[in-house]
Amino acid sequence: MRPMLVSCPRFWAKVRGYELHKRFITYMSLNQDSKCDANCQGCFRYPGRKAGLKNLLGRADYVRLIEEFKRFGGLALEISGEGEPLLSEHTLPIIRTASSCGLWTTLITNGHLLTEAMALELAELRVALVLSLHSLNREKYEADCGIHGSFDKKMSALDMVARVFKNTDWTENGVAIRRAAVHWTLQANNLDEVENVRRFCRERELLFSIAPLACTGHAANTPELWLPEEKKLAAVNALGDESIIFYDEPDGRAVCGTCKYGLNIGADGKLLLDAHGGYEVKIANIRDISFEKAVEMQHRFSRIMFDQLDCFCPVRDPEWPDFLERKDIFN
Ligand SMILES: C[S@@+](CC[C@H](N)C(=O)[O-])C[C@H]1O[C@@H](n2cnc3c(N)ncnc32)[C@H](O)[C@@H]1O
Ligand code: SF4
Repeated sequence: MRPMLVSCPRFWAKVRGYELHKRFITYMSLNQDSKCDANCQGCFRYPGRKAGLKNLLGRADYVRLIEEFKRFGGLALEISGEGEPLLSEHTLPIIRTASSCGLWTTLITNGHLLTEAMALELAELRVALVLSLHSLNREKYEADCGIHGSFDKKMSALDMVARVFKNTDWTENGVAIRRAAVHWTLQANNLDEVENVRRFCRERELLFSIAPLACTGHAANTPELWLPEEKKLAAVNALGDESIIFYDEPDGRAVCGTCKYGLNIGADGKLLLDAHGGYEVKIANIRDISFEKAVEMQHRFSRIMFDQLDCFCPVRDPEWPDFLERKDIFN
């Protein structure tokens, strides 16, 4: 079996033996504010959300959410969503609180603000650290994310993470478990770099995660980055290590495990349909309903989303914009 990132859906299922489809709650995505230092052309984030959100959840809200999540049997958090999590004052305290309760957190970051002190602390906590990457070419990287000097920051962050996390991996049930990864969003302008980035990860013993671009948010307006039709998911996925996204349903369908079996909460407390989608529809605010009720609502939406959309990831499904228009589902 290919190396696997700790705390990803197949880790819980295939290595630890959990049946996510029988559990009340497994994942919770705690999106942080939508602000970001970068402006990636293929970003999920909706352009109108760049300035940041209002009425953000605070420290006490997060402690309560983590305690409730643990009480109902949750296993792992994800901090990814929209915006750059390392700009948020809540990210590290959330991870510390979760880790002290025995919960894992997958932190997905552009890594521009990651210091060695932070990485050393994250390596001591229950954390899967994922650094996003979409080019190993300086000009292409900086033209895409719009920050002069960011490529050198990214490269030194990647080398530093590889060094700090070097001896944190282990083997469990015959699978090599990794704690640090590169996540490569496959888009039309980086298909030819995949072999190169795969070698780059091997040399550093970083897991190489790969997933196709979703044509939503800012990426909905950048057709030049959309993948060619014939690029089938299976072929894309085979280029990377074990997917950090997939869970295998009892009928054999692979779905996004964190979306289907997770509660997704925006930085302002709004319940979402996925860490990267559902901003447009009005559901409820986690401040106004019980945790249990929020999970029950999520069960209902997950069932409808995955029944009505064929893609492994609802926001990547071509029918996603039409699905969001279906007011009957959300009322
Ligand atoms: C939205 S970002 C937020 C976290 C952080 N700012 C980062 O870039 O890592 C979360 C992950 O989604 C990926 N991503 C962003 N936009 C995407 C899109 N349109 N389709 C697929 N993946 C995308 C990023 O590369 C990153 O790995
Ligand atoms: S992909 Fe991440 S780093 Fe890039 S603009 Fe979006 S939130 Fe920021």
